[in-house]
Amino acid sequence: MRHSNYADVVKRISRPSGLALAVSKPKDGPANIITLGWFMRTSIKPPMFAISVGLTRHSHEILSENRNFVLAIPSVTMAEQTMQCGLESGRNVDKITEFGIKTQHSTLTDIPILADAVANFECKTITQVRSGDHTIFVGEVKYSWQHDDENLEQLLSIPINDDRFNELIKKGSYAFGFIRD
Ligand SMILES: Cc1cc2nc3c(=O)[nH]c(=O)nc-3n(C[C@H](O)[C@H](O)[C@H](O)COP(=O)(O)O)c2cc1C
Repeated sequence: MRHSNYADVVKRISRPSGLALAVSKPKDGPANIITLGWFMRTSIKPPMFAISVGLTRHSHEILSENRNFVLAIPSVTMAEQTMQCGLESGRNVDKITEFGIKTQHSTLTDIPILADAVANFECKTITQVRSGDHTIFVGEVKYSWQHDDENLEQLLSIPINDDRFNELIKKGSYAFGFIRD
């Protein structure tokens, strides 16, 4: 063991990792989608997810005013859209329309679920906590959805240039793909 720079240590441990998309909607305006690497299950009864959203994100503004959101787990068919939602802000672009993201009505609210995702969870924020330059929003799952295709692969954030993984898209320091059989 040796002391090392925080960023170098984190780089070593952080991939491959799951990806999520949080869909939120302001009162007047289209639903917006943010790509998230920082999310986790936090309770079984009731089921809950926590998401960590940067203070500067457009999604942060929306999630602070509308307590409902949808947490979608992207499939491999959403590799490009997941990258775009992580690189563009909803302040400048209507991501659902511009990136051709297929949606479906949800049960609880007018926030859509994502039709090509492996899973969708309709959540209601029950608490939030400031964590440095992010806020952790904790949502209770009200309804869960899964894709009809049982074999649809979940999209992962993978190490760049590692041939154990099947790379689907790469931009800057991000690569997305799935684990080869
Ligand atoms: C792979 C990946 C993971 C990301 N994870 C997070 C995250 O966990 N939390 C966060 O606030 N931003 C994360 N981002 C950055 C946001 O997705 C990005 O800033 C996005 O443009 C914000 O959109 P918005 O302004 O419409 O909310 C991630 C981006 C990528 C590409």
